[in-house]
Parts: sequence; C-alpha cells; structure tokens
Amino acid sequence: MRARIVHGEEGVRDSVELLRQGGVVGMPTETVYGLAGNAFDPMAIARIFEAKGRPLSDPLIVHLPEASWIKRVVQFSSLKQRKMVEKLAESFWPGPVTLLLPKHPELPDLVTAGSDRVAVRVTAHPLFQEVLSRLNSPLAAPSANRFGRISPTSADDVRLELGEYIELILDGGSCEHGVESTIVSIQEDRLEILRPGPITQEQLKKYGHVSSLAGIVNTPGSLPGHYAPKKRLYIFDSDIMSFPSKARVGFMAFHTSFKEIHNELTAVEVLSSSGNLKEAAANFYGALRRLDESHAEVILAEPVPEEGIGVAIMDRLRRASYGSVHGTGHPPSNSPAR
Ligand code: TXA
Ligand code: MG
Repeated sequence: MRARIVHGEEGVRDSVELLRQGGVVGMPTETVYGLAGNAFDPMAIARIFEAKGRPLSDPLIVHLPEASWIKRVVQFSSLKQRKMVEKLAESFWPGPVTLLLPKHPELPDLVTAGSDRVAVRVTAHPLFQEVLSRLNSPLAAPSANRFGRISPTSADDVRLELGEYIELILDGGSCEHGVESTIVSIQEDRLEILRPGPITQEQLKKYGHVSSLAGIVNTPGSLPGHYAPKKRLYIFDSDIMSFPSKARVGFMAFHTSFKEIHNELTAVEVLSSSGNLKEAAANFYGALRRLDESHAEVILAEPVPEEGIGVAIMDRLRRASYGSVHGTGHPPSNSPAR
C-alpha cells in the first residue's frame, strides 16, 4: 500500500468516508500529525496500533472538536474536577494541552489500554475539527510515526513513516508548534505535567499547584529511546568548532550558524537563526529527520535554553539521545543500549 495524500474539501470528504468505514487516516494537528481512527470503533483502534507497530499497552489520546463533547468520553469524579476542567478548557482549548481524566465506561478499553483514565484534547487545526464535526464521533489519534520513532510534522513525513501501512493522509501543511501537546493529569486542585509541551508549567500555575512528573512516570512517550532517529544522537554542549573530526557529523544547531565550518560538517540544520524557541520547536522534528537521512554517521545536537517550549524540546532531545558529549571528546564507545 502506498498512502495517498489528499487536500482541502475533497480531502476532508475522503477522510470522513474512510473513517466511517472503520479506516485510519493520517491527519494534521497544530502540534504534530496524528493517525486517527473512530474512538468508538474497536476495529479502527486496532488498525492504529497495527499501523504504528505500537504495543497495546500504550494508550491513545482522544480528540474532540469542542470542549462540550467531553461528556461523551469522560465521567467526572467530582464537581471540583469538572470546574477545574472548565477553567482549563476556557483558557487553553482549542490548543496543545491534553488532560488526563476518568474514562467514560462506554469508551472502548482498547483506547486507554485498559486504564480507567482517558487523555483528551481539543485540537485547534481547522481540517481536523472539520473532519470531527462531520464524522460526529471523537477520534483517537497518536502521533503518526512508527512506534518510538520521530514524530511527523508534515504530510510527507507521515508518508515516510507510515506510507506502507495506511491508505490516506490529509495534508494540512506544516505543524504550527512542532512538538506534542503538554499532558496534564488533574488530581483535585493539583496539576501534574506528565509530558512537557507547548503549554508551559508557568502558564498552568494560575489554575492550581503544578508539579512536573515528566521523566518519572513510565508511559511509553516518557521512556528514554523514544522520538529517536536511527543514527546515534548526542547532546553536544560545547563549541562545535572544538569537535575533533567534523567529517561524518550531522549537527543540529539551535541558533548559531557556524558558517565557518559548514563545509567540514556533513550536514547542518539550524533550528532558528534568530534564536526563537517557538521557531526552533516547529523545525525540530523535521531537522532531526533530515539529519537522520543525511550521509552523517553521528548526530550532535546543541542544547536549547530550558525555558518556555525549550523544556519540551530538551525533553525530546534527551529521550532521542545516547547521552551528552562535553568538550573535545569523541562520542563514548560504551553507550547505553536502548
Ligand atoms: O500533540 C499530541 O498530543 C499528538 C497529536 C496527534 O494530538 N498526539 C500524541 O499522541 O503525541 P502519542 O500517542 O504519540 O502520545 C501520547 C502519550 C503517550 O505517551 C501515551 O502513553 C500517553 O500520552 N497517554 C495517552 N493516554 C493515556 C492514559 N490514559 N494514561 C496515561 N498516559 C496516556
Ligand atoms: Mg508519539
């Protein structure tokens, strides 16, 4: 099978039709592309797991066109919880935040991998919203990559990842944010960040006490070795000029252009020449994918400042990497296995 990329109104029509038949479609969101299937159709959900090669123990995020649909998939455990969700929804939806809440009993267990909690979000992408409204059913959608690999931020990326496994990809251009949504678990008036993303701890603070469990909780998206290129990637926190052999090195720079040594390096990607973290996030996975496809044998990545969406970039970079290299050393030969 070779996935067909479709656009605009005709693309929306084809997507809705395939989803009605229990099929799966690669679809754009404002964060990364998702692989969507009807959340209430267990066969469609099974197809998502199969296409991604994803273990059935790893639950999927459910997407809604508007907050009022939440009652279809969530059963609130208290009034306090509902009020908290209303406040968060008003501020952040539609947008890149996912809330972890008690699951509605009618939602198939396959979606949540047997967990009694479901992750939900309202995506801001107009094409995704349009498909949801016409289908009139929530869509489960994980990122549209093979399990553990680099998340796609364009329709072409989805075809590279899943082109052999799915029929249809709806093209919605390149993703605005470029990293996955912030996942927040709601416990009474406490908020716990399970995965950092475009909505920051700072922004969530005014709604209750916020702690970050990112890196502690063992959902697969928070395991090391996730979001990973095929090549070895190291975080390189010194001047690339000092790296001894630049041949066969692919370098992911945050903002420096390193014009002097471009010729020596096999491949260079600059995430944001002006040092803008939002721009860097939007370019991050695409740059990683291009370096992975280049002739470079090893990828070195310059760290970005850990503020705002930079927290999410560094989170993904650490999980994708084999570790850090400091100063002038070569990558360690006894790297940990993944
Ligand atoms: O921005 C996003 O969130 C994208 C777009 C497509 O919406 N989706 C996405 O989905 O990143 P995925 O499946 O690649 O990552 C979702 C993460 C996984 O690590 C999964 O384990 C966790 O969320 N998750 C989903 N449902 C959960 C649940 N019920 N309990 C705990 N963790 C859950
Ligand atoms: Mg993913």
